[in-house]
Amino acid sequence: MNTVEWSDTLLLDFEPMDGVHREFVDLLALAQNAPDATLPQAWAAVVDHTVEHFGREDDWMRKTRFSAAENHIIQHRVVLNVLREGLAMARAGQMDAVREMAGELAVWFTKHTQSLDAALALHMRRHADGIGKAPSRHAKSAHASPSSH
Ligand SMILES: [Fe+2]
Ligand SMILES: [Fe+2]
Repeated sequence: MNTVEWSDTLLLDFEPMDGVHREFVDLLALAQNAPDATLPQAWAAVVDHTVEHFGREDDWMRKTRFSAAENHIIQHRVVLNVLREGLAMARAGQMDAVREMAGELAVWFTKHTQSLDAALALHMRRHADGIGKAPSRHAKSAHASPSSH
């Protein structure tokens, strides 16, 4: 089974994303190591966390008008739908199918983090004002202003 372990290759140098991704890795590992009896709860925790995780990224992309948002948001939606199907399977006792899905999710997560999320992290480091901080250009234009004489 494919598993995911936290490593520096997943770091995006944007703490709001890195923190959420660390939690995701932990929750997915818990689900992959869960016995059948607790797999449904463990999978539900992965789904709930992923709703928040993807929702936050989607929100940033919309608020900062990220040019590559559409494809990234669609990918989130597709994966979340699959994970919800997994929850229904776990509750129906189809544990093998859920474990297979968990392995596929681990592979997908690494790829997604290193491609679409990496691009978003780069964008967010440049547009931190889009998530609530004052735009840095204000400070720059004030400094460059010829108003002192
Ligand atoms: Fe992410
Ligand atoms: Fe993402």
